[in-house]
Amino acid sequence: MPMTGPTSSDNLEELKRLKDEFTRFMMLYKFGIDEITTKLNILKEEFTQIHDYNPIEHISSRLKSPESIIGKIERKQYGQDIDDIREHITDIAGIRVTCSFISDTYKVFELLTSQQDITVVKVKDYIANPKPNGYQSLHVIVEVPVFMSDGVVQVPVEIQFRTIAMDFWASLEHKIYYKYDKAVPDSLLAELKHAAEAASRLDAKMEHLHGEVLALDRATTSRTTADGHPKPPSLADRVMTELIDGLDPR
Ligand code: GTP
Ligand code: MG
Repeated sequence: MPMTGPTSSDNLEELKRLKDEFTRFMMLYKFGIDEITTKLNILKEEFTQIHDYNPIEHISSRLKSPESIIGKIERKQYGQDIDDIREHITDIAGIRVTCSFISDTYKVFELLTSQQDITVVKVKDYIANPKPNGYQSLHVIVEVPVFMSDGVVQVPVEIQFRTIAMDFWASLEHKIYYKYDKAVPDSLLAELKHAAEAASRLDAKMEHLHGEVLALDRATTSRTTADGHPKPPSLADRVMTELIDGLDPR
């Protein structure tokens, strides 16, 4: 039956207003992801170019779908207007940072969260305190300012820092969890727990090896050659010296 009369056009207006409000709401979270991703990429590039070391292996992000937002509201029985969603659902903007080593997860976390415009809302350190199933990652919810044409909005973003081994485990566990529709057989749960412990031991071993390699690097890049003569400056050192000389007003 065709809709006619003032009521249906009022309804349409209201529907359009709601749609616009929701679009703007979701857009803010997308911009929140963009802001944090840029910060992480800057750290990654700076480390690679200047310090010749890359603490970040991979950065991924996702915007929670409207369906999952609604699912979470129903599951957790939150209020249903946009202010309730804003307050309770802090993982609409989600970023995952994968590092090679545990020390790097904390390093990148520190470098990001110590930036002036970042507010830390909540930290859950599942690396220091793994979940009972073995899950490990460092979770933080931050707020980042997003500058819109009519003002600035503090947007919450959930960031998960983890190692490659933790990520490998978490993606498999996630797949199994969904395959069994959340009713995973006990034997598999026990195996998963063992696998998490093995991943954790691998991380500890890799961290140790990494430390040894760094120590070796420091020893071999000392300023003298093995027979005690001063080493010629590296190309990077020469470029830096020339740049600094160029800045000298004398
Ligand atoms: P959610 O309601 O799922 O967002 O969890 P929460 O509010 O209790 O937050 P928490 O920090 O514990 O977990 C947030 C996110 O971390 C989840 O959405 C997953 O992406 C990830 N996560 C947490 N626990 C597990 C786990 O046991 N296995 C896997 N694979 N991922 C997990
Ligand atoms: Mg979540």
